[in-house]
Amino acid sequence: MFWLKTRIIEGEGSLEALSKEASGYERVLILSSGSMKRHGFLSEAEDYIREAGAEVFSITGLPAEPSIETVEERLPKLREEFQPDLLVALGGGSVIDTAKALKVFYDAPELNFEEIAFIDRFSKPKPVPKLKTKLIAIPSTSGAGSEVSAASVLKKNGVKYNIVSQEIAPDVAILDPRLPMTMPREVARNSGLDVLVHGIEAYTTKVANDFSDAMAIKAMKTVFAFLERSLEGDEKAREKMHYAATMAGIAFLNARLGLAHAMSHKAAWIGPHGLLNAILLPYVIEFNASKSEYARKRYDEIARELNLKDWRELLREVKELNLRANVPKLSELVDGETFMARLEDMAQKAYRDGLTAFNPVEPTVKEIKELYLKAYRGE
Ligand SMILES: [Fe+2]
Repeated sequence: MFWLKTRIIEGEGSLEALSKEASGYERVLILSSGSMKRHGFLSEAEDYIREAGAEVFSITGLPAEPSIETVEERLPKLREEFQPDLLVALGGGSVIDTAKALKVFYDAPELNFEEIAFIDRFSKPKPVPKLKTKLIAIPSTSGAGSEVSAASVLKKNGVKYNIVSQEIAPDVAILDPRLPMTMPREVARNSGLDVLVHGIEAYTTKVANDFSDAMAIKAMKTVFAFLERSLEGDEKAREKMHYAATMAGIAFLNARLGLAHAMSHKAAWIGPHGLLNAILLPYVIEFNASKSEYARKRYDEIARELNLKDWRELLREVKELNLRANVPKLSELVDGETFMARLEDMAQKAYRDGLTAFNPVEPTVKEIKELYLKAYRGE
């Protein structure tokens, strides 16, 4: 099965489409990152909405990591004062994830966070009921795929939970390449490498199909062709990367992801998501290929699409891209003692992560531990 709920509007200046999208609505709430406010895109968005004749309210200054506490703090104002009939998320993946969670509890106030959230692959949450408020996502970074995905990652008391439901997938995504031009080089690198990991993992899960494959392949080709130029500030390349991020998002929305993501989620305390994925990916490819004929066949297919011979060459290319992009070693991000102290816990939790179920190989806790260790030693 392949599905995509989100209507995608792309192109330079496409932020203007907000005006048309907001017409017919009365009260619009924009959740914006501080960076989009600083670069003037929040006020531009507010103007488009006012042009459409709607009242506009804005929330900025959200913390970098979305949490249920952040959502709960803002809900009373949303319900009693703003009462929006349209939600707009303007920023990176965490702003979009926060907007998705706000939508859930704004539209369905009777819900309790614990009963709808996944902690791991063995939990059985209640389905999210039908929600009504329209959500428009306008990503300013190129990686997370949250502008099309059905997931929102939220912390509660420091633990990461997932809400997964088609109900929270945005109705519209506006991909204006002027926005990601503001990304600092490091953010562009980390999120751009995440796009590659999304492509490779989505292509090799147990539930990938021809339709998700097409999106994954195009995204991977784009990363190899344009990521480095995009990091140098080339506008066309950055635009291509912006679209590739959404394509990879459409791929994993359908085909899900694998062990690199399961492991990076549990190592999130060490560093940025995309960077950890980039560090872990080569070890996961090698592991999967060594254990599964299906995985080897799928990596071989990716390799051929990229004009490479086989999965070994693909692995080499992935490692070389990391080197060229100056991806640090895991041991440069965290000291040995701290890492070893949390290793067992990370491996246990990665084993239970929802995405591990989709990896082409079902790993044991011991194997996951060994992969973390290999990555730490840089072997
Ligand atoms: Fe990711």
